[in-house]
Amino acid sequence: MTLNFDPRAKATTLYHGEFRPMFIGGKWVAAQSGDVMQALNPATGEVLATVPRGGAADIDAAVAAARAAFEGPWSKFSPYERQCVLLRIADLFEKHWEELSVSDTLDMGLPITRTLANRRRVIGMLRFYGGMATALHGEAIDNSIPGEIVTFTRREPVGVVGAIIPWNAPTAASIWKIAPALATGCTIVLKPSEDASLTPLLIAKLMQEAGVPDGVVNVVTGTGAEAGARLAEHPDVNKIVFTGSTLTGQAIARAGVTNLKRVSLELGGKSPIIVCRDADIDKAVPVAAMAVFVHSGQICIAGSRLFVAREIHDEFVRRVAEFAGKLRIGHGIEAETEIGPLINARQAGKVEGYIKAGSDEGARLVAGGSRLTGELYDGGNFIAPTVFGAVSDKMTIAREEIFGPVISAMPFDTLDEVVARANATPYGLAAGIFTTNLGTAHKLARRIKAGSVWVNMYHAIDPAVPFGGMKMSGYGREGGIEHLHEYLETKAVWIQTD
Ligand code: NAI
Ligand code: MG
Repeated sequence: MTLNFDPRAKATTLYHGEFRPMFIGGKWVAAQSGDVMQALNPATGEVLATVPRGGAADIDAAVAAARAAFEGPWSKFSPYERQCVLLRIADLFEKHWEELSVSDTLDMGLPITRTLANRRRVIGMLRFYGGMATALHGEAIDNSIPGEIVTFTRREPVGVVGAIIPWNAPTAASIWKIAPALATGCTIVLKPSEDASLTPLLIAKLMQEAGVPDGVVNVVTGTGAEAGARLAEHPDVNKIVFTGSTLTGQAIARAGVTNLKRVSLELGGKSPIIVCRDADIDKAVPVAAMAVFVHSGQICIAGSRLFVAREIHDEFVRRVAEFAGKLRIGHGIEAETEIGPLINARQAGKVEGYIKAGSDEGARLVAGGSRLTGELYDGGNFIAPTVFGAVSDKMTIAREEIFGPVISAMPFDTLDEVVARANATPYGLAAGIFTTNLGTAHKLARRIKAGSVWVNMYHAIDPAVPFGGMKMSGYGREGGIEHLHEYLETKAVWIQTD
């Protein structure tokens, strides 16, 4: 892909190991403790910058700022004024998109062509929620109580929202939490992942530039155990919106019990991809492969269980393996790179453990399977795109979320059987179906238990379309009008008129 700018040149202007403060109540501050954490480039191990290691006291300060803004200046903004703010943020994102993309690529490894390609989706989200700010409304309801009594509902912002996000899509995740908060009149404290804090701090700067009042958007960097846990339990936070692992989601739901705050959770998955005998194989091979490999498998919707009709299983798996072998793996900052590193050494070690379990439990390794070494990969966390064939449902690699570049392929014989096997997981986030038969497409789409089902495609996410999980993939939806309902309370008003 040819770019109209040089990402490497841009990268050299961004980070030089300096201290980057966090953003609370409109001020750029250090942690009250003075502690810092390093922001690392996962492709090289280099220290990009240091950021505050915010703790409970900093979260408390941010929540207090968010509360004051919610009760004060922000409550005076009309829907139209909130809309204008969101549209100004969108314009600033257009202007700074290259910088935001380079920052994400440096901090968390996703190749630059892919961070750049999120432009329409992220800026589209800002404009979609900007539009929705003036479209919120309650309803007048006819009641059956004797007398002249009018009833209507009002939709009111829930209040202070705490948002906790993972490392794998810092820009999109930040905006998916911030935009609906601004549209509805909420205020927000955003806690980015300790592995990818830098772009959320750039985003905070753009919020300030767009005229978001102090305290409406706060970004507190820090660890999950310290800053994250305090935000989740905080008695003055009205809602938590979380994206991340199922285990942490459970801890957050438990912590929210303190003040019965609302919680919405977008968690992990072990999403099935079903390739029927009548599928268009040329089309299905690259999509099924990239359904996992796209961010070295570090996406919640990774289609990591690949069910293939037995008649075409061997041929299909051979072609997916061939595709995997041709992917260009390297530093995300190079425009030619298709696959970047894993986020950190711990994550790479975890993925290696899964690959070993696959081999030990008898799966057939047909591509990848090892860490990449050599000059290009020094200091980084690179694992070759890996494909296992002849996997059985009971194997560890067929059951657990790996969050790495590992596909587990399994043959199936009948549609009833594959539906039962695809659904035999605690997760229910996404699914992919490949078939040229319209009836089969409808049948499978209806019977698979997942929040998103893609047919003859994968991955698509649009601001207007709800996204989220069933079962242990979480609850609540992001995207679409349903997303706004998560940030709104309903109040019923009764007025006796005679
Ligand atoms: P995580 O789910 O623990 O972290 C996500 C966010 O939650 C981060 O901002 C973290 O600081 C915060 N957090 C952690 N513990 C917390 C707590 N007790 N209270 C409040 N906030 C807390 O994920 P992590 O540690 O980055 O990765 C661990 C594993 O989780 C990965 O190996 C992967 O399998 C899975 N994961 C899945 C994701 C998905 O979208 N499905 C996203 C991130 C991780
Ligand atoms: Mg980093």
